[in-house]
Amino acid sequence: MTFHVPISEVKIFAKKFWKIAGGTKVWAFHGEMGSGKTTTIAALCKEKGVQSHVSSPTFSIINEYEYRHGNKSGTIFHIDLYRLNNNEEIMQTGVEDCLLSNHFCFVEWSEKALHLFDENAMHVYIKEIDFETREIQIKPASQIHAHTFPEQL
Ligand SMILES: Nc1ncnc2c1ncn2[C@@H]1O[C@H](COP(=O)(O)OP(=O)(O)OP(=O)(O)O)[C@@H](O)[C@H]1O
Ligand SMILES: [Mg+2]
Repeated sequence: MTFHVPISEVKIFAKKFWKIAGGTKVWAFHGEMGSGKTTTIAALCKEKGVQSHVSSPTFSIINEYEYRHGNKSGTIFHIDLYRLNNNEEIMQTGVEDCLLSNHFCFVEWSEKALHLFDENAMHVYIKEIDFETREIQIKPASQIHAHTFPEQL
């Protein structure tokens, strides 16, 4: 599924996202530096009912937000693997526990550790079209080709 998203319509994309998200909890984000992963995830969190500020977890690795929407509430983990260098560091930070928690997880730089994502995860590819427009592609794990799973780290 492919979306054309100008910066002015990130909120509209977020509404569409939650309509199609189904029961998927783990979302692996892909895209170059500055492509818009954090910006998009912030919009998704806001739309879901997160009140607190959503910011890049580059240094904290894992941010945890609570959302409340009507009578529904829950937890969203916002994870950034950018600074993690090996499997040991990943284990120490508790990223895997988050992914197995059955809470929503949005993971930036997921390509750093693709082995963490099973067949239930969905993959989100963000590509810069121009200064204020992005192409966002959502793919199930089954459409991620084997050659994009390099020997990790
Ligand atoms: N359509 C768009 N969607 C998302 N961001 C956009 C869009 N158009 C322009 N931008 C801008 O692109 C920048 C994206 O920065 P952001 O921090 O979200 O990227 P990132 O992919 O998380 O980077 P990093 O890899 O450093 O974590 C922001 O300045 C944002 O305003
Ligand atoms: Mg980011």
